[in-house]
Amino acid sequence: MRVGVLTGGGDCPGLNAVIRGIVRKGVQEYGYEFTGFRDGWRGPLEGDTVRLDIPAVRGILPRGGTILGSSRTNPLKTDGGARRVKENLAELAVDALVVIGGEDTLGVATTLWEQYGVPCVGVPKTIDNDLSATDYTFGFDTAVNIATEAIDRLHTTAESHMRVLVVEVMGRHAGWIALHSGLAGGANVILIPEQRFDLDQVCAWVESRFRIRYAPIVVVAEGAMPRDGDMVLKDGTLDSFGHVRLSGIGEWLANQIEKRTGKEARTTVLGHVQRGGTPSAFDRWLATRFGLHAIDAVRDGDFGTMVALRGTGIVRVPIGDATARIKTVDPSLYQEAGVFFG
Ligand code: F6P
Repeated sequence: MRVGVLTGGGDCPGLNAVIRGIVRKGVQEYGYEFTGFRDGWRGPLEGDTVRLDIPAVRGILPRGGTILGSSRTNPLKTDGGARRVKENLAELAVDALVVIGGEDTLGVATTLWEQYGVPCVGVPKTIDNDLSATDYTFGFDTAVNIATEAIDRLHTTAESHMRVLVVEVMGRHAGWIALHSGLAGGANVILIPEQRFDLDQVCAWVESRFRIRYAPIVVVAEGAMPRDGDMVLKDGTLDSFGHVRLSGIGEWLANQIEKRTGKEARTTVLGHVQRGGTPSAFDRWLATRFGLHAIDAVRDGDFGTMVALRGTGIVRVPIGDATARIKTVDPSLYQEAGVFFG
């Protein structure tokens, strides 16, 4: 049995831990051989492979990024892409594919399995934590820790200068990173994509914070939107899954706050720092267990499924369950945090 492995979409801490879990268990317990595919779906599309055996996965557990590389290549948007993937897998004698990715990468796996019979098992990843069917994705905990540490640091500098500090975190459609890091870091305002915000209310919270002689920290998800405005885009470009590039809401918000309140406001955009570096202990634990369970699903021939965290257990669900809709922040969870605003 030869198993292919690929990592697609935005990278995230813990990808290497998954790969290690898959290969260690696959080789040691099932005697499988592996083929690594480079750069997400580009690998099987172009037949671009990398050696993947036990020596190749030694020492990678704490390493961020992915030893396989990643991309947002969409084979379904390439002429004859699905057919080429199938042919390349057959030529390389790859019997099954473990696909580690988010909504887009796993969406391709669903179509390739359901419509073309490519035997795929999915592993959910994204720092955004916005995949349905799993309580958490790995990478999220690391991102939240990075953002929380940044907020802690920004509190002291904001207070020294009595300024507003706006912290822009990732989160395209879901405000999980903003909500968790904002709560953990003691932010005074948290803005998420799920709830349009009222600029007057934000300014009122900022002013009330100054009245008690503290400097406000505003955490804003990159996809957050004002009540009568739209998402702030970096530029107009689209990736091959049709996503626009975000970022800029933090700068826009700081300008608006400065104009309306007369208080000095600065912005920190955490950007890809949230996706880089070593995974947290929780993410290493979760990613490793996902890897171990994914290779078990391959052994059982349970294709079209994805491993998922439910409580403390790992279960298998149809991949389509994870990609059918985005897991957004429940309004009641957001309201809970409101007691700390202002
Ligand atoms: O999907 C994860 C994510 O980190 C989003 O939060 C963000 O909008 C996007 O990836 C950024 O992607 P890229 O690295 O391709 O600019």
